[in-house]
Amino acid sequence: MQPVIKHFFHSASFTLTYVVSCPETKQCAIIDPALDFDIFSSHIDTSFAQEIIGYVKKQSLEVKWIMETHAHADHVTAASYLKKKLGGQLVCGRDVTSVQSTFKELFNFPDFKDDGSQFDLLVRDGESFDLGKLTFKVMSTPGHTPDSVTYVIGDHAFIGDTLFMPDSGSARCDFPDGSAALLYQSIQKIYQLDDNVKLYMCHDYQPNGREVAYYCTVAQQKAENIQICSNISEQAYIEKREQRDGKLAVPRLIYPSLQLNIRAGQLPGPESDNQYFLKTPIFGVENLN
Ligand SMILES: [Fe+2]
Repeated sequence: MQPVIKHFFHSASFTLTYVVSCPETKQCAIIDPALDFDIFSSHIDTSFAQEIIGYVKKQSLEVKWIMETHAHADHVTAASYLKKKLGGQLVCGRDVTSVQSTFKELFNFPDFKDDGSQFDLLVRDGESFDLGKLTFKVMSTPGHTPDSVTYVIGDHAFIGDTLFMPDSGSARCDFPDGSAALLYQSIQKIYQLDDNVKLYMCHDYQPNGREVAYYCTVAQQKAENIQICSNISEQAYIEKREQRDGKLAVPRLIYPSLQLNIRAGQLPGPESDNQYFLKTPIFGVENLN
């Protein structure tokens, strides 16, 4: 039996969210849900999350899991909001604790618990958990971030930010504890899945204005990926990846995203005036001397 997979494209952040369901039991998992957050007005909105809620209700699905492939730096997660509205358990890779420690320090959150307790289930490489009559298997696939995991179910794999569509290459590796060498190894693990396994992207940046594309097979990636097809050496990949990362801009939503995503999308408490705030670190202060 294979799962039913429905994709949703969050165009503001080029993110793909998936609802994966067991056709027999109607249990479902929501993977990488995005919340709308406007950087300029600092305004949160649930329009995109409502699309997911609408689908889950229309299909009479029971949400069992709300899963993150990693702590995202380019969009805020709707995980906690969806848990409140639909139920389900929050899942992510156990090395989210490493991301939490890094950003606890950066944001100076002395009371923040960097033990993963904001999530219900922390998974490690080789573990599995059920979705109705189907099973998710976890592959640890770090490189973009230390906590990145791939979830495999039937002939389908949700690969987070590892590979993008073949015409777009692979994910950046310049975030804290990112590593092009680790990403190369993680992608080799993905390439060891059967050639016909379908790989589902976490993002599609629509190069040259093409239509959104969100999955392709392992065989296609191995043959066609512009940065990491099956015959590129590890050294050549690392050099190319690092060169490219040196030219990439910081994601617009990096500080709101990480501040909220290390909390599984929950807001830090309001201040005495009942207003909620986020922090922005300032770098280059020495330039004012
Ligand atoms: Fe990412």
